[in-house]
Amino acid sequence: MATKAQILTVDPDRWRHPPRPPILRQIGNTPLLKLEHVTAGLRPGVEVYAKAEWFNPGGSVKDRPALRMIEQAELRGELTPGKAIIDATSGNTGIGYALVGAAKGYRVVLVMPENVTSERKQLARAYGAELIFSDPLEGQDGAIRLVREMVAAHPERYYYPNQYDNDDNWKAHYYGTANEIWHQTRGRITHFVAAIGTSGTFMGISRRLRELNPNVRLITVEPADELQNIEGMKHMATAIVPKIYDPAQKDGEVLVHAEQAHDMARRLVREEGLFVGLSAGAAVHAALQVARRLDHGLVVTVLPDSGAKYVSLGIFD
Ligand SMILES: Cc1ncc(COP(=O)(O)O)c(C=O)c1O
Repeated sequence: MATKAQILTVDPDRWRHPPRPPILRQIGNTPLLKLEHVTAGLRPGVEVYAKAEWFNPGGSVKDRPALRMIEQAELRGELTPGKAIIDATSGNTGIGYALVGAAKGYRVVLVMPENVTSERKQLARAYGAELIFSDPLEGQDGAIRLVREMVAAHPERYYYPNQYDNDDNWKAHYYGTANEIWHQTRGRITHFVAAIGTSGTFMGISRRLRELNPNVRLITVEPADELQNIEGMKHMATAIVPKIYDPAQKDGEVLVHAEQAHDMARRLVREEGLFVGLSAGAAVHAALQVARRLDHGLVVTVLPDSGAKYVSLGIFD
């Protein structure tokens, strides 16, 4: 029998969505993989699992919110065929929009700092997205400011999902990723650890897990300071804070240096065969810190994207 929490979290709009193009039906339901080697030295009752989000068709966790934000805007009538989708993105959400836009027939305009890796730029362009570059010295926040100016100048041209303030960002994880983790661990998860950028992954998964088990511990991962550049992650104390981020939701946080994220990304590919990106390295570094303090427990983290997008940085050489 379904519990009260399970009944409450069925997506109320599930039956109103138009049929999805076939490739978009492949978003979600990613594997949950046990880490078997980097976990050496943990107590016998402690396990660490990771959600392999590069199995999504656009190659990252951000396919999920991109699809939900666009579908919900269609349902509300805010996104109509003549409009272009525009947003500020360090790359992965942009690739998600570009994928959904290509499959559904929308123009997609992406604003990003010029220093984003060339692989990401090429990927978004391959899907047909138009790229506009903001000042690299202003980071992600510079891209957000530029989008706001463009939309204010021509509101009739664009639909601006604004992933930082859009509840459908975290709801993609609340209705999707969190339930997958709950089923894949058979409800045994004790700790959830996630790197935060917009915070959508963390907020959506942790809200749902807390409903299913109030004792689950929820831990965020941030760069140790504003100089640690880990693509996709935000140092909240010095950044424009996303409206969807609620720090009261977390029980703890782990701060990671870029070098530690690089080291763990290298270990994951060589010791586990998991070719993942830098925020995944940061997330696993943090998950292991949490796991080392436990006598018993099942720690889950998220591997947001693959290492393929980072080869030009030379960190895997
Ligand atoms: C590589 C990477 N890691 C982590 C994140 C953070 O995810 P979220 O925005 O859900 O907090 C992102 C977001 O764009 C990302 O691209």
